[in-house]
Parts: sequence; C-alpha cells; structure tokens
Amino acid sequence: MSFDQSRVTAFYETHPYPYRPAGIVGDETLIGIPGDLRFINHYIFGGRRDFKKPMRVLVAGGGTGDAIVGLGRQLATLGCPARLVYIDLSTRSREIAEERCRKLGLDGVRFHTGRIQDLPDLEPEPFDYIDFCGVINHVGNQQEVVDVLASRLAPGGGMGIMAYGQLGRTGVYHVQEMLQLAGAAQEDVKTARSLLAALPGTNWHRRNDIFKDTANEPDVEVADRYLNPADRAFTVAELRDIMNAAGLDIAAFVPSLFYEPAAHIGDPALRERVAKLSWIDRCIFAELFHGDIAMHNFYVVKSGQRPDAARLLGEKSAIPIMASIPAGLAPAVENGRFGIAMRCGPLTRQITLPATEYSAPILRAIDGQKTLQQIHRTLPGNLSWRAFQREFALVFNGMNGIGEMVLSMTPIPR
Ligand SMILES: C[S@@+](CC[C@H](N)C(=O)[O-])C[C@H]1O[C@@H](n2cnc3c(N)ncnc32)[C@H](O)[C@@H]1O
Repeated sequence: MSFDQSRVTAFYETHPYPYRPAGIVGDETLIGIPGDLRFINHYIFGGRRDFKKPMRVLVAGGGTGDAIVGLGRQLATLGCPARLVYIDLSTRSREIAEERCRKLGLDGVRFHTGRIQDLPDLEPEPFDYIDFCGVINHVGNQQEVVDVLASRLAPGGGMGIMAYGQLGRTGVYHVQEMLQLAGAAQEDVKTARSLLAALPGTNWHRRNDIFKDTANEPDVEVADRYLNPADRAFTVAELRDIMNAAGLDIAAFVPSLFYEPAAHIGDPALRERVAKLSWIDRCIFAELFHGDIAMHNFYVVKSGQRPDAARLLGEKSAIPIMASIPAGLAPAVENGRFGIAMRCGPLTRQITLPATEYSAPILRAIDGQKTLQQIHRTLPGNLSWRAFQREFALVFNGMNGIGEMVLSMTPIPR
C-alpha cells in the first residue's frame, strides 16, 4: 500500500500526541530519554559540552511539546545561548506546544508546521542536537527522513531517537489489522476498546504483559497505538542499517544493560561466547533474548565519532549525575549487592548490582554537583585516588547500565 501523508497529518490533527490536557505545561518529571540534556551531553558530547557556547536544537516531529519544553527549560537554566526549532505536521500539536512554551516564558522558539523532509528549505543552518522521538515509526520512508536529518547535523552533533521495538510490540499489529478489517475509522476509539476487551487469553496482545493496562489509558494513547494510519516497529539490525546508510553510527542504547545479554546469562561458556560478539551484535542478541523491548531509546552520531564518556571516570573534576534518584536517597546495600529497578519504556526489570562497603557512601554523596574528587574526600578511611576510581567505576557501571547515571564536566539540572 502506498504511503498517504495526508492521512498521518489528519490523524495527528485529531489526536495530538502525547495527551497534554489544555493548560498543563508539565514539570521536569516529563523530561525523559532521549530528550534529557544530561543524557544528550553524556552520549553525544562525551560529557564535555560547554553550554556557555551557542547550541542549535531541532525537535523533529515535536508533537504537543514535551521535548521542546524540557530542553528549552534545561538550556535556559544553564544560561545557554540556545536556538530551538520545532517542526511537526500537526497544527493542533504545534498550538499546544506553543502555548506550553509561552506559559514557561520560553521565547524565541521557531515553530514550523510541515514535513521534516522539507526542513532544509525552512532551516538551512545545521543543528548540534536533533530530537527525533517516536517519529520514525510514523513516516512513510524512514531512510529518506533519516537522511534529511543526518544532513542537518553540525560537526560533532548527534540525534536522540526513540523507535518502536518489533518484538516487544507483538500483538499490537494484530489488533491494528483486525481494526482495519472491521473498517474502524481513525477516530473510532470505542471500537478499539471493544475489540481489546473481547480478546481471548490466547491472543498475542493479551499475552503481551506490556500492554495489559491499555483499558486505563487515555483515548489518545489507544488511538495512537491501534488506529494509527502509519505505524511500524524496528529490530536493532534494521535501525543499524538505516543509520549506517545515512552516515550515522548508533552511539548507545539506553539503558545499556538491557542490551548486554552476557550480563543476564549464568552459564560461563555461553556467556563468554556472547561477550565476544561485537557490541552491535550483542544488542541484536539481547533484543532476541529479552523479547519484550517495545521501545529502542538510542543516540546516534556521525560515523566514526562515537564518544566515550566513560573516559571522564579518570577526571577528578567530572560530576556524576543521577537521572531520577533524589540526592541522598541511595539504594540500601546488603551483602555486597543492591537491588534496583531498570526501566526501558513501559518495561521494568528488577536488577541486582554488585557493591562493596564503599558503594553506599559513594551513592549517598552524589548530588549532581559534587565532583569525583569531592566525593572521594567524603569517604571514610584513606582510600587512594586509584582505589576510589575502581570503587566508583563499579557503582558507575551498574548505575549507568540501568540508565540512572551519567557523567558531565558541568552540573546540569533536570
Ligand atoms: C507519536 S508522536 C511523537 C511526538 C513527540 N516527539 C513525543 O515523543 O512526544 C509523532 C509525531 O510525529 C509527527 N510526524 C509524523 N511524521 C512527520 C513528518 N514526516 N514530518 C513532521 N512531523 C511528523 C506527528 O504529527 C506527531 O506529532
């Protein structure tokens, strides 16, 4: 079936996404991956972005504005001379996003209604960061759109992307197909809810735990998932191929531990085989292994320019930042380990991370302001800098792996 852009536009005029009831601006809890400046700094700029320098940001397919509001707020707090640009097909989504920016006093955002494919005519200047969250799933020709965005990246720049995961969405496309067969219109949420309620226990959607709370979700969410006129999901291998063809490399999937299958395999011989695979092959393996990744959150940079923020582990002035755990509320360490939840889109896994006697005081000392040197000095005993680095690396590898900790050379507020 050929791609009809007007149906996608009409859909998002009727169902602006995500659902942000009139008057809601949203606080910092709406800031999430990929559009969180702290993660963008870590995974695209190796933790070293100087936010006193100008930064051009594009939110491509910005919807009702979560990313433009969140990034605008974070950059304004840092005093960054940023230039923010928003583009989306949907006029109604843009109006909501504009209203939210107005309420926050975020002036100077350039808003465009139109196709990402037409961006080069509208905005010829390149961008340091492009947010492309949940949009690749709804464009007709993914390669064409990614090529256009890749051509708009400034040297050293990158993109944050959310793409649907094919295996994790098992059952969603069965429901979509049934609704199409039944002749449900784009706005027919009632019929979608009736079908979902009627599904037997043998149905793949019913068996997919990720979507078990669908009945309680707002109409916009139900429409977006089951009545969308253009919706596809991707495997890791497909995403790699699309990005590589556009001259881009995947820098990281977040949370990275989800994409490290060896970490979840007990048998040492099999674990060793898997650990020997290339990084991207391990990611491909992990997706097949887990089977329930419904969203891939990842960062891309120009080919060959994958930064290594872990190098900051050797810098005394680097600052560790927690994504969501408030300062002082460190997880309790018991018997050389601690339990913590790892989140990936709608998915949560309870994970156990290794620890030592120093892990708890290190975690407690992290407040998003203190440098590694300052954290080192808070610890009891006479730990050498080298020993501290080893202790800190243990904490960092676990917490970064679950998508909870990043490194930066400057404090970055949420
Ligand atoms: C699922 S929403 C995601 C919105 C937002 N990025 C977020 O994550 O909250 C997809 C958005 O992409 C927009 N969109 C789809 N195809 C587009 C295209 N070719 N050019 C511009 N916007 C597009 C839609 O209008 C819609 O607002």
